Amino acid sequence: MCGIVGYVGPQPALEVVVDGLARLEYRGYDSAGIAVLTDGRLATEKRAGKLANLRAALEHNPRTADGIGIGHTRWATHGAPTDTNAHPHVDNDNRVAVIHNGIIENFASLRLELEERGCKFTSETDTEVAAHLLAEELKQQDGDLAAAMRSVCRRLEGAFTLVAMFANDPELVVAARRNSPLVVGRGQGENFLASDVAAFIAHTRDAIELGQDQVVELRADSVTITDYDGRPVKVREYHVDWDASAAEKGGYEYFMLKEIVEQPQAVADTLLGRVAVDGTLTLDEMRLAPSELRDIEKIVIIACGTSYHAGLIAKYAIEHWCRVPCEVEVASEFRYRDPILNRQTLVIAISQSGESMDTLMAVRYAREQRARVLAICNVNGSTIPRESDGVLYTHAGPEVGVAATKTFLTQLVACYLVGLYLAQVRTVKFGDEINAVIEQLANMPEQVKKVLSTVDPVRELARSLGEADTVLFLGRHVGYPVALEGALKLKELAYMHAEAFAAGELKHGPIALIENGLPVVVVVPSREGRGVLHDKIVSNIQEIRARGARTIVIAEEGDETVRPFADELIEIPAVPTLLQPIVSTVPLQVFACELALAKGNDVDQPRNLAKSVTVE
Ligand code: M6R
Repeated sequence: MCGIVGYVGPQPALEVVVDGLARLEYRGYDSAGIAVLTDGRLATEKRAGKLANLRAALEHNPRTADGIGIGHTRWATHGAPTDTNAHPHVDNDNRVAVIHNGIIENFASLRLELEERGCKFTSETDTEVAAHLLAEELKQQDGDLAAAMRSVCRRLEGAFTLVAMFANDPELVVAARRNSPLVVGRGQGENFLASDVAAFIAHTRDAIELGQDQVVELRADSVTITDYDGRPVKVREYHVDWDASAAEKGGYEYFMLKEIVEQPQAVADTLLGRVAVDGTLTLDEMRLAPSELRDIEKIVIIACGTSYHAGLIAKYAIEHWCRVPCEVEVASEFRYRDPILNRQTLVIAISQSGESMDTLMAVRYAREQRARVLAICNVNGSTIPRESDGVLYTHAGPEVGVAATKTFLTQLVACYLVGLYLAQVRTVKFGDEINAVIEQLANMPEQVKKVLSTVDPVRELARSLGEADTVLFLGRHVGYPVALEGALKLKELAYMHAEAFAAGELKHGPIALIENGLPVVVVVPSREGRGVLHDKIVSNIQEIRARGARTIVIAEEGDETVRPFADELIEIPAVPTLLQPIVSTVPLQVFACELALAKGNDVDQPRNLAKSVTVE
């Protein structure tokens, strides 16, 4: 949830750290802070609110920094987002500064223990215990910060990335991780630490991912990684294949606007290189042998939020193409209901960030039950793919806006690829049938472009609805998860009450909500192949219109049957039924974004949210 940056090297440390924080602000933005060494003394500055408040404070109180610095942007868990609770936290002698991402679950007992020994706490955070524990341990370990960190981590329970600096060792930053992300950026005569490579991509594209329960000692010319007992460990080094400009706004006012426009490219990139010269699908990173996939008797998809909606759509495609039963469940519920899993179960974990704690915990549970786990993920080297048996990466590039847009479309593509691949290895579909769908998928970037070129009326419509209290969304078949996604986008961006229903469920209760002028968005399924559903939804539109709803209908171009009942008609290209979500979601993203902007909301950093939710 929080963003973490650390730097050791010859550049002005304060600038490097604050620039890094700017690139990580999407991870949490309710307060921000830094610690640097100025003339051998620890100097911290921290402010509630967005990074701009910290920048203003630093301008007001400029300071020089020796060669190291750490910085933090927070998504509050323990203690309100105030100046005092912002990170870094320091010990009582102001010699050690600590920043933290995650939750230290045993902080209450540790705090009590420390208070009994005379420690004075200044914040309500769980993090502050780490600062005091480190200060105590440093005395035991002759000022060896890495040894102190290892010892403290052995005492902590929960999830954490901790980064610390110690005024007595002015050329060292030490960090540790458990269940929370941390990557090292290797430069020439300088090194970086961050929750995400975006923080240091402007300086280096060479990265090392830290494994579970590891500690890193960062100096300008060395990176030493050990486990919590001080033993050297094997690490994975990799080269980041996107550059700083990919994470810039590129002339758009908001990242979200840019990311919506990037969707055709993201879809195309995710399809790239998946088909061999002989026309067969090859999913290289999958690491699950065809024989294992042939053994599968049941598929369970686990995910959260938008990724969960991608999973709901995947179920339609996978069951239709592969004839394997497929369940979809929100990850936060999964392991608490004692699900029935075994070696013949394939669990597909969908996560943009690869760090959502709910999904990670569900993955671990599934593996304990011996299920095979395949991750669909956008962030290379993140925890969920690392802990899964196989992975299929989406190639959406960095997504900075908190609302998932391009990553959702690429998750859909990845899900379709998995479905087709399963159909291929289980020989339930002929090669030419699979190729026909791959060709249709290859055509989708063009179709998404087409939608994007026609969404101006959607923007206008959204602006006209700024005063509405509620918007309802209806869909059937794959249009139902699209409706759920449309409602989620509106809630998170425009802070409006929005709800989605399967259109057939309307008559079982929700139709009572319909009143004069209530905007209802209806996602109409393709007529082709699903004619019955199409006709039924047309009846649903008439039912709500008869009760006064203002109908906003998303339907295939040329679908004249819906026109008489649509107060507003949003036309999308005609595409095969199962693939329709790739095009029907786009106007809903634009709709929510524009409505939120009309209300003056920050669409990149909606209130109370964070891009990557690393707490349960
Ligand atoms: O990184 P993940 O895909 O695991 O994240 C899951 C959800 O937190 C995420 O999709 C969230 O719902 C989006 N912000 C919605 O736009």
